[in-house]
Amino acid sequence: MTRIKSAVAFGALLPTALCLPQNAPTDLKGHGKRYDMPPAEERAQAVVDAFRTAWDGYYTYAFPNDELKPVSNSFSNSRNQWGASAVDALSTALVMQQKDIVNQIIEYIPTINYFQTPTEVSLFETTIRYLGGMLAGYDFLSGPLADLADNKTNVDALLTQSQNLANALSYAFDTPSGVPYNNLDFNNRSNDGGVNGLATVGTLVLEWVRLSDLTGNTTYASLTEKAESYLLNPSPPSSEPWPGLLGMDISPINGSFLDAHGGWIGGADSFYEYLIKMYVYDPDRYSTYKDRWVLAADSTIAHLTSHPAPRPDLTWVAMYDGQNLSLVSQHLACFDGGNFILGGQVLRKQEYIDYGLELVNGCHETYIATATGIGPEVFGWDSADVPADQAAFFNKSGFYIRNANYQLRPEVIESFYYAYRATGDTKYQQWAWDAFLAINATTRVGSGYSSIENVNVEGGGGFTDFQESFWFAEVLKYSYLIHAPEAEWQVSKGGNNAWVFNTEAHPFKVFSGSS
Ligand SMILES: *[C@@H]1O[C@H](CO)[C@@H](O)[C@H](O)[C@H]1NC(C)=O
Ligand SMILES: *[C@@H]1O[C@H](CO)[C@@H](O)[C@H](O)[C@H]1NC(C)=O
Ligand SMILES: *[C@@H]1O[C@H](CO)[C@@H](O)[C@H](O)[C@H]1NC(C)=O
Ligand SMILES: *[C@@H]1O[C@H](CO)[C@@H](O)[C@H](O)[C@H]1NC(C)=O
Ligand SMILES: *[C@@H]1O[C@H](CO)[C@@H](O)[C@H](O)[C@H]1NC(C)=O
Ligand SMILES: *[C@@H]1O[C@H](CO)[C@@H](O)[C@H](O)[C@H]1NC(C)=O
Ligand SMILES: *[C@@H]1O[C@H](CO)[C@@H](O)[C@H](O)[C@H]1NC(C)=O
Repeated sequence: MTRIKSAVAFGALLPTALCLPQNAPTDLKGHGKRYDMPPAEERAQAVVDAFRTAWDGYYTYAFPNDELKPVSNSFSNSRNQWGASAVDALSTALVMQQKDIVNQIIEYIPTINYFQTPTEVSLFETTIRYLGGMLAGYDFLSGPLADLADNKTNVDALLTQSQNLANALSYAFDTPSGVPYNNLDFNNRSNDGGVNGLATVGTLVLEWVRLSDLTGNTTYASLTEKAESYLLNPSPPSSEPWPGLLGMDISPINGSFLDAHGGWIGGADSFYEYLIKMYVYDPDRYSTYKDRWVLAADSTIAHLTSHPAPRPDLTWVAMYDGQNLSLVSQHLACFDGGNFILGGQVLRKQEYIDYGLELVNGCHETYIATATGIGPEVFGWDSADVPADQAAFFNKSGFYIRNANYQLRPEVIESFYYAYRATGDTKYQQWAWDAFLAINATTRVGSGYSSIENVNVEGGGGFTDFQESFWFAEVLKYSYLIHAPEAEWQVSKGGNNAWVFNTEAHPFKVFSGSS
């Protein structure tokens, strides 16, 4: 997940009429194409080829800036000008064993000055992309992939730079409650003074705890565990409409929640994801987190499960405001199937796995219904709210499109990956292969890959000229791993995971007692 993973404003999702796609789909031309699957080795290699294409474009026209603009062969700096795409690409280059790229990146990382940036810093985005990317790089290169580093000095620097970055960020937690501010200005050590969000507060603890465990400096863990304590014991009670399901706005002044709306959506999403992932990381220290995940999961199954009227065979998870449901979901939310599957494996509860597989199927349907074979950013299924020009589409597909763009997001393929790892059913490899080919066919442009305007017109309706850093970190990693050979970092079938993926798909070694 990610992206303005958490900056998606809930309010903006509510009034359907204000939120129609610019080019509302009027046709019924579902893609639903099933491609021939070559052998796994060839599928994995095709994803490596896409990774190298995207990297070459970035390295030629953008490095060491944050992102490639592939249409204009130029660059942008949306993530503080520290080379976001390079740091985000590292753990994918590692699992793909692309030694030349690994060394290009680890030679660069020691040169970053994390104490300086011209632009506002997001504590959350910086943690999941930069800190997560460097820690995963360190875990791989000081462990099973040590042979890929030409120079050990650059490996040690990954941990030093992680500490430098966390030290630069840590003043964010200096608030009356210990709930951090998210938006920071390093130039005068100020913050935006605003409220923080559920995902932005609740998606720090895995990275900062890993950093403490690797360095012995327990402050990183303490800061984020303190912030998380307000999410594990939410107040006031009205901010928890059902057990475990929370509102999204939190005051750094007193740690109180200020609302009761939410779901498994952008802005809330990875808080729920990390409750179970912390338990995967260390079941001894984080069993309370697991208990809160179980409450949220059970409440979701009981209260948020929703089937569209024309397609009762499909399942999506609704959003809520208090106990009122809103029949809207997002590409971002499609990580939910994978997260239920992970929880079911780890807790050995088939009910969660089965529910997760239903959600995976629902998100797959959003892909195969469109003209490109790629699912939309935001979709709804409220029969009373269907835009007239999408009525036929809704009758057939069970949803209508509220925001038609595709921002190179990973969540649907991420959940295919968990589904495949849990079941071994090659259907999920087929779905991931079809999705990868559709994305490769539609978003490949100029020197790389670009976000597109409209998933429901052939060709994607135009390019935004932007290659997200999480294209490297997430989409290409999950697209690759689902076809790749067994390895200790692959999600395990039986729930005994040696590695756990952060929300940006950076794998960390699980806690083993020492580090
Ligand atoms: C390894 O990297 C360090 C720091 O970048 C550099 O000073 C050193 O010369 C390098 N060693 C080799 C053998 O290239
Ligand atoms: C431990 O981390 C904290 C928080 O960033 C930092 O202030 C402190 O200097 C670190 N301690 C050491 C010994 O590096
Ligand atoms: C810090 O700098 C930013 C940008 O220059 C400015 O908007 C903000 O008001 C400053 N904050 C403080 C507390 O000085
Ligand atoms: C907590 O602080 C917020 C402002 O950030 C305020 O609106 C709210 O009333 C406070 N809640 C309590 C219980 O003090
Ligand atoms: C829930 O819906 C009821 C009935 O429409 C309405 O009175 C109430 O204000 C709504 N609650 C919220 C939190 O939106
Ligand atoms: C969609 O289905 C409804 C209910 O079956 C029907 O009344 C309506 O005519 C259908 N609309 C289109 C455009 O097919
Ligand atoms: C991906 O797209 C490129 C450019 O259109 C094409 O050359 C390549 O064959 C595609 N990959 C696959 C596996 O179809």
